[in-house]
Amino acid sequence: MSELDALLDHAAAVMDGERGEPWDDQLRVGVDLGTAHTVVVVTDGTGWPLAGAYKFAQVVRDGVVVDFHGAIALVKELKVETEVRLGRSIDRAASGYPPGVALADVRAVEHVLAGADLRCTALVDEPTAANAVLGVRDGAVVDVGGGTTGIAVFADGELVTVADEPTGGTHLTLVIAGALGLSIEEAEARKRDPANAAELFPVVRPVLEKIGTIVHDVISPHETEQLHLVGGTCRFPGIAEVIAGVTGVGARVPGDPLFVTALGLAANDIPSRLGDQN
Ligand SMILES: Nc1ncnc2c1ncn2[C@@H]1O[C@H](COP(=O)(O)OP(=O)(O)OP(=O)(O)O)[C@@H](O)[C@H]1O
Ligand SMILES: [Mg+2]
Repeated sequence: MSELDALLDHAAAVMDGERGEPWDDQLRVGVDLGTAHTVVVVTDGTGWPLAGAYKFAQVVRDGVVVDFHGAIALVKELKVETEVRLGRSIDRAASGYPPGVALADVRAVEHVLAGADLRCTALVDEPTAANAVLGVRDGAVVDVGGGTTGIAVFADGELVTVADEPTGGTHLTLVIAGALGLSIEEAEARKRDPANAAELFPVVRPVLEKIGTIVHDVISPHETEQLHLVGGTCRFPGIAEVIAGVTGVGARVPGDPLFVTALGLAANDIPSRLGDQN
């Protein structure tokens, strides 16, 4: 297992309540407001996850905060849960936004954090944040979330292009619900159980191909060597093969892909000393 895969698997355990042992005395905090999941994560100065909490909730749509008060309440709740798990308080965090959203919507993220008593130390676009963890020099980061697919192309370590298109895991859930006559909640649960992946694959394949086409259109003007697939939807078995097939470019899902963006946002926070009361 690579170092990155081990880090991401550890992140998943931490997000489910395990406590990480710090390597140094620094703290960084990331808040990821997503269409599907909102995540609060604390790492040490090296990026090693220490504590966190997340919840499936609809306070953001296509990268835009649509339920401002709900978002504040949710971040407050996750902050408290994280503080309990961490054993100390936090009062600052870095956060992010999908590429291409309006400046006012970026600001809304800062206001949500402020409403939850968190000073916003940085706001970065999400696929670039993800790359703080992945460290891609030549290739593309593809973040398939709930509502959208974000793509960032890097060459020689520099960001060349970034895009965000409204297709994601929600669309997989919708076609499963439609095809099998299930409620959205039932379809969502069925999709997340890997035991159903083989049965559901033909149902969701057209949506995965559509995501592949979106990626193809963004990367085709550039010589992209490799695709790095993150975001919760990339937990679905077989997604890498479909996207590689459509784009003709190798695709890989590193470790558990769900928390990469949140960890990358934390990496953009200004570190504070563990012992300091901020
Ligand atoms: N095990 C799983 N198998 C398939 N899909 C999954 C699994 N776990 C989570 N997902 C899907 O991942 C999606 C959420 O991913 P993520 O948390 O990265 O999105 P988000 O950041 O909230 O959304 P966005 O980036 O679009 O704002 C949801 O559609 C969810 O159904
Ligand atoms: Mg996301």
